[in-house]
Amino acid sequence: MKQIEPIIVFKKASKVFPTAEGGENEVLKDLDLTIGRGRIFGIVGLSGAGKSTLIRLINQLERLTSGTLLIDGQDVTRQHDGDLINLRRHIGMIFQNFNLMRNSNVFENIAFPLRITNYTKDYIENRVNELLDTVGLKEHAQSYPLKLSGGQKQRVAIARALALHPDILLCDEATSALDPRTAKSILDLLKSVNSDLGVTVIIVTHDMSVIKYICDDVAVLDGGEIVEQGLVADIFANPQSLIKTFLHGFGGGQV
Ligand SMILES: Nc1ncnc2c1ncn2[C@@H]1O[C@H](COP(=O)(O)OP(=O)(O)O)[C@@H](O)[C@H]1O
Ligand SMILES: [Mg+2]
Repeated sequence: MKQIEPIIVFKKASKVFPTAEGGENEVLKDLDLTIGRGRIFGIVGLSGAGKSTLIRLINQLERLTSGTLLIDGQDVTRQHDGDLINLRRHIGMIFQNFNLMRNSNVFENIAFPLRITNYTKDYIENRVNELLDTVGLKEHAQSYPLKLSGGQKQRVAIARALALHPDILLCDEATSALDPRTAKSILDLLKSVNSDLGVTVIIVTHDMSVIKYICDDVAVLDGGEIVEQGLVADIFANPQSLIKTFLHGFGGGQV
């Protein structure tokens, strides 16, 4: 089997949030996790398991309380704010609720990261058209988000996330607000982003069918710890406790 090169490595990573009552909520506990370059890596867990926190640590929207996080071999926990801007350029992110600018059309939503990075007008025009093509929205360049379906909105968000040629795409419940058929088409798009552009895709979801459909690897997060991890094919062939709950329990809608 081909050797997998790590792109993201958490070592003994902990994240503690203060609670409203003045206590501490340890959301991630001494977590060790390695994500390979070029993989589609799924992180699955129940609501409140710490999935969004984990993904927000990767682009340093949250900082670790203790432990280390290496991205591309660099210890980002020691980086200063100026370096983080550079880090975030290499990491795109999409969300369940799309987070589009409602007063800007599709073209301008996708152009946004390019404009704030001071690219020329011509470069931006070309790059946005290329991205519109990638996500299949050429005819909608002038449309406003309000006029788009959920699937189209997520395509805009994906194009925007890819604008600066990221190495990593973080997806936080990206298909959870979509109907099954639309969800599948978005997952197919993410598959081609991975295979055609070589982007490492990290999928956070509470939906096992998403993991099964698209991921190479899966880690199960429960109580702030990884309780099960491996190749999706192996895990589904021999599921342990929490995965069994997922497979036989509620939710987990079909994709
Ligand atoms: N900014 C924050 N401040 C305080 N507590 C937080 C913050 N973000 C998340 N939490 C807490 O961390 C836990 C995990 O949340 P989250 O990472 O959103 O879980 P998931 O995405 O798996 O549903 C929850 O108990 C939540 O209340
Ligand atoms: Mg979440």
